[in-house]
Amino acid sequence: MSSGRRSPPASRCNTTTTASSLIDQLVDAIVAVVDVAPTSLPDIDRVQRSLRLPRQEPVASGFNEQAAARLDAAVAFAHNDDDRRLARLAAACGSKLPWFIAYADHTEPDMVALHEGYRVAAIMGPRHLSGTIITSDEASMYLSIQGPGVLYPSHVHKAPELYHVIAGEGLWQRGDGEYTAQPPGAWIDHPTGTRHSMRTVDQPMLSLAIWTADLDSISEIVRT
Ligand SMILES: [Fe+2]
Repeated sequence: MSSGRRSPPASRCNTTTTASSLIDQLVDAIVAVVDVAPTSLPDIDRVQRSLRLPRQEPVASGFNEQAAARLDAAVAFAHNDDDRRLARLAAACGSKLPWFIAYADHTEPDMVALHEGYRVAAIMGPRHLSGTIITSDEASMYLSIQGPGVLYPSHVHKAPELYHVIAGEGLWQRGDGEYTAQPPGAWIDHPTGTRHSMRTVDQPMLSLAIWTADLDSISEIVRT
Protein backbone atom coordinates (compact mmCIF):
# COMPACT_ATOMS: atom_id res chain seq x y z
CA MET A 1 0.00 0.00 0.00
CA SER A 2 1.33 3.39 -0.90
CA SER A 3 0.60 6.64 0.86
CA GLY A 4 1.64 8.63 -2.22
CA ARG A 5 -0.58 10.07 -4.93
CA ARG A 6 -1.72 7.76 -7.63
CA SER A 7 -2.55 8.66 -11.20
CA PRO A 8 -6.20 9.09 -12.14
CA PRO A 9 -7.78 5.91 -13.45
CA ALA A 10 -6.90 5.23 -17.08
CA SER A 11 -10.45 4.21 -17.84
CA ARG A 12 -12.92 6.84 -16.81
CA CYS A 13 -16.56 6.32 -16.26
CA ASN A 14 -19.22 6.22 -18.89
CA THR A 15 -19.94 9.88 -18.29
CA THR A 16 -19.55 12.47 -21.02
CA THR A 17 -21.46 15.62 -20.08
CA THR A 18 -20.22 18.78 -18.41
CA ALA A 19 -22.14 17.86 -15.27
CA SER A 20 -20.44 14.49 -15.23
CA SER A 21 -17.01 16.03 -15.49
CA LEU A 22 -17.82 17.94 -12.31
CA ILE A 23 -18.67 14.64 -10.62
CA ASP A 24 -15.39 13.22 -11.95
CA GLN A 25 -13.57 16.17 -10.40
CA LEU A 26 -15.32 15.50 -7.09
CA VAL A 27 -14.26 11.84 -7.09
CA ASP A 28 -10.74 12.80 -8.17
CA ALA A 29 -10.61 15.20 -5.21
CA ILE A 30 -11.75 12.41 -2.87
CA VAL A 31 -9.07 10.13 -4.34
CA ALA A 32 -6.44 12.81 -3.70
CA VAL A 33 -7.47 13.09 -0.03
CA VAL A 34 -7.81 9.35 0.59
CA ASP A 35 -4.50 8.55 -1.12
CA VAL A 36 -2.58 10.59 1.47
CA ALA A 37 -4.48 9.22 4.47
CA PRO A 38 -2.29 7.69 7.18
CA THR A 39 -1.27 4.19 6.10
CA SER A 40 -1.95 3.02 9.66
CA LEU A 41 -5.72 3.35 9.10
CA PRO A 42 -7.21 -0.14 8.84
CA ASP A 43 -8.17 -1.18 5.32
CA ILE A 44 -7.47 2.23 3.82
CA ASP A 45 -5.97 0.39 0.83
CA ARG A 46 -9.35 -1.24 0.27
CA VAL A 47 -10.94 2.20 0.10
CA GLN A 48 -8.27 3.47 -2.29
CA ARG A 49 -8.83 0.46 -4.54
CA SER A 50 -12.60 0.84 -4.54
CA LEU A 51 -12.36 4.50 -5.50
CA ARG A 52 -10.75 3.37 -8.77
CA LEU A 53 -13.73 1.29 -9.84
CA PRO A 54 -15.89 2.61 -12.73
CA ARG A 55 -18.03 5.64 -12.06
CA GLN A 56 -21.59 6.35 -13.07
CA GLU A 57 -23.78 9.40 -13.02
CA PRO A 58 -25.36 9.81 -9.57
CA VAL A 59 -29.11 10.13 -9.18
CA ALA A 60 -29.82 13.46 -7.54
CA SER A 61 -32.18 13.55 -4.59
CA GLY A 62 -32.87 15.15 -1.24
CA PHE A 63 -31.00 18.43 -1.71
CA ASN A 64 -32.35 21.68 -0.32
CA GLU A 65 -31.36 25.31 0.22
CA GLN A 66 -30.26 24.66 3.78
CA ALA A 67 -27.85 21.92 2.73
CA ALA A 68 -26.55 24.14 -0.09
CA ALA A 69 -25.90 27.01 2.32
CA ARG A 70 -24.08 24.73 4.76
CA LEU A 71 -21.90 23.23 2.01
CA ASP A 72 -21.00 26.72 0.80
CA ALA A 73 -20.22 27.87 4.34
CA ALA A 74 -18.06 24.82 5.11
CA VAL A 75 -15.51 25.65 2.40
CA ALA A 76 -14.02 28.44 4.53
CA PHE A 77 -13.24 25.95 7.31
CA ALA A 78 -10.96 23.60 5.35
CA HIS A 79 -7.34 23.78 6.45
CA ASN A 80 -5.33 22.49 3.48
CA ASP A 81 -5.48 22.71 -0.29
CA ASP A 82 -6.68 19.14 -0.95
CA ASP A 83 -9.53 19.38 1.56
CA ARG A 84 -10.44 22.88 0.34
CA ARG A 85 -10.66 21.64 -3.25
CA LEU A 86 -12.82 18.73 -2.11
CA ALA A 87 -15.09 21.05 -0.10
CA ARG A 88 -15.48 23.40 -3.09
CA LEU A 89 -16.38 20.52 -5.38
CA ALA A 90 -18.81 19.09 -2.84
CA ALA A 91 -20.56 22.47 -2.82
CA ALA A 92 -20.48 22.68 -6.62
CA CYS A 93 -21.87 19.14 -7.00
CA GLY A 94 -24.38 19.40 -4.16
CA SER A 95 -27.50 19.47 -6.33
CA LYS A 96 -26.32 16.44 -8.35
CA LEU A 97 -25.78 14.02 -5.45
CA PRO A 98 -28.09 11.41 -3.88
CA TRP A 99 -28.73 12.96 -0.46
CA PHE A 100 -30.86 11.29 2.17
CA ILE A 101 -31.99 11.87 5.72
CA ALA A 102 -30.38 9.52 8.24
CA TYR A 103 -32.74 7.66 10.60
CA ALA A 104 -35.73 9.13 8.78
CA ASP A 105 -38.17 6.91 10.68
CA HIS A 106 -37.12 8.23 14.11
CA THR A 107 -39.43 10.75 15.74
CA GLU A 108 -37.69 11.68 19.01
CA PRO A 109 -36.93 15.45 19.32
CA ASP A 110 -33.15 15.03 19.01
CA MET A 111 -33.62 12.90 15.90
CA VAL A 112 -36.00 15.41 14.33
CA ALA A 113 -33.30 18.02 14.98
CA LEU A 114 -30.79 15.70 13.29
CA HIS A 115 -33.11 15.38 10.28
CA GLU A 116 -33.03 19.15 9.92
CA GLY A 117 -29.35 19.63 10.61
CA TYR A 118 -27.63 16.71 8.92
CA ARG A 119 -27.62 15.37 5.35
CA VAL A 120 -25.75 12.44 3.85
CA ALA A 121 -24.95 11.66 0.20
CA ALA A 122 -24.00 8.18 -0.98
CA ILE A 123 -20.76 8.33 -2.97
CA MET A 124 -19.81 4.64 -3.06
CA GLY A 125 -21.23 1.36 -1.87
CA PRO A 126 -23.01 -1.91 -2.70
CA ARG A 127 -25.22 -2.20 -5.76
CA HIS A 128 -28.43 -1.66 -3.84
CA LEU A 129 -27.22 1.71 -2.51
CA SER A 130 -29.48 4.03 -4.43
CA GLY A 131 -28.05 6.56 -6.87
CA THR A 132 -24.41 6.27 -5.86
CA ILE A 133 -21.42 7.10 -8.11
CA ILE A 134 -19.28 3.99 -7.54
CA THR A 135 -20.52 0.46 -6.93
CA SER A 136 -18.26 -1.49 -4.57
CA ASP A 137 -18.75 -4.51 -2.35
CA GLU A 138 -15.55 -3.71 -0.44
CA ALA A 139 -16.21 -0.24 0.94
CA SER A 140 -18.96 2.31 1.18
CA MET A 141 -18.52 6.06 1.44
CA TYR A 142 -20.84 8.86 2.41
CA LEU A 143 -20.37 12.61 2.22
CA SER A 144 -22.05 14.30 5.17
CA ILE A 145 -22.79 17.89 6.06
CA GLN A 146 -23.66 18.66 9.67
CA GLY A 147 -24.87 22.17 10.41
CA PRO A 148 -23.61 24.24 13.36
CA GLY A 149 -25.03 23.33 16.76
CA VAL A 150 -26.21 19.88 15.68
CA LEU A 151 -25.90 16.69 17.74
CA TYR A 152 -25.58 13.32 16.02
CA PRO A 153 -26.58 11.15 19.00
CA SER A 154 -24.59 8.17 20.17
CA HIS A 155 -24.89 5.26 17.77
CA VAL A 156 -23.25 1.95 16.98
CA HIS A 157 -22.89 -0.38 14.02
CA LYS A 158 -21.03 -3.58 13.21
CA ALA A 159 -19.27 -1.98 10.26
CA PRO A 160 -15.80 -0.65 11.06
CA GLU A 161 -15.74 3.00 10.12
CA LEU A 162 -13.26 5.66 9.12
CA TYR A 163 -14.14 9.33 9.23
CA HIS A 164 -12.29 12.18 7.58
CA VAL A 165 -13.06 15.76 8.59
CA ILE A 166 -12.87 17.77 5.37
CA ALA A 167 -13.89 21.14 6.76
CA GLY A 168 -15.14 22.56 10.05
CA GLU A 169 -14.50 21.35 13.55
CA GLY A 170 -16.48 18.58 15.18
CA LEU A 171 -16.56 17.22 18.71
CA TRP A 172 -16.36 13.44 18.88
CA GLN A 173 -17.28 11.05 21.65
CA ARG A 174 -16.40 7.38 22.03
CA GLY A 175 -18.50 5.37 24.43
CA ASP A 176 -19.16 7.47 27.53
CA GLY A 177 -15.96 9.49 27.13
CA GLU A 178 -15.60 13.25 26.90
CA TYR A 179 -16.28 15.00 23.60
CA THR A 180 -12.94 15.95 22.06
CA ALA A 181 -12.29 18.33 19.18
CA GLN A 182 -11.36 16.88 15.80
CA PRO A 183 -10.08 19.59 13.48
CA PRO A 184 -10.28 19.73 9.69
CA GLY A 185 -7.93 17.17 8.20
CA ALA A 186 -8.41 14.68 11.05
CA TRP A 187 -8.96 10.97 10.46
CA ILE A 188 -10.99 9.06 13.04
CA ASP A 189 -11.09 5.26 13.31
CA HIS A 190 -14.11 3.49 14.80
CA PRO A 191 -13.40 -0.24 15.11
CA THR A 192 -16.43 -2.49 14.81
CA GLY A 193 -18.96 -1.92 17.57
CA THR A 194 -17.48 1.37 18.83
CA ARG A 195 -20.29 3.58 20.14
CA HIS A 196 -19.77 7.16 19.00
CA SER A 197 -21.42 10.56 18.76
CA MET A 198 -20.53 13.80 16.99
CA ARG A 199 -21.64 17.34 17.65
CA THR A 200 -20.87 20.69 16.14
CA VAL A 201 -20.69 24.09 17.82
CA ASP A 202 -20.34 27.19 15.67
CA GLN A 203 -19.11 25.72 12.38
CA PRO A 204 -20.67 23.40 9.84
CA MET A 205 -18.73 20.16 9.48
CA LEU A 206 -18.20 18.47 6.14
CA SER A 207 -16.87 14.93 6.41
CA LEU A 208 -16.44 11.57 4.72
CA ALA A 209 -17.79 8.50 6.50
CA ILE A 210 -16.34 5.24 5.19
CA TRP A 211 -17.31 1.67 6.01
CA THR A 212 -14.76 -1.01 5.18
CA ALA A 213 -16.66 -4.23 6.01
CA ASP A 214 -20.16 -5.39 6.96
CA LEU A 215 -21.53 -2.84 4.52
CA ASP A 216 -25.10 -3.97 5.11
CA SER A 217 -25.00 -3.59 8.88
CA ILE A 218 -27.51 -1.30 10.53
CA SER A 219 -26.58 1.81 12.49
CA GLU A 220 -28.55 1.99 15.71
CA ILE A 221 -29.03 4.93 18.07
CA VAL A 222 -28.01 4.04 21.63
CA ARG A 223 -29.99 5.47 24.55
CA THR A 224 -28.20 5.16 27.89
FE1 LIG B 1 -20.84 5.74 12.62
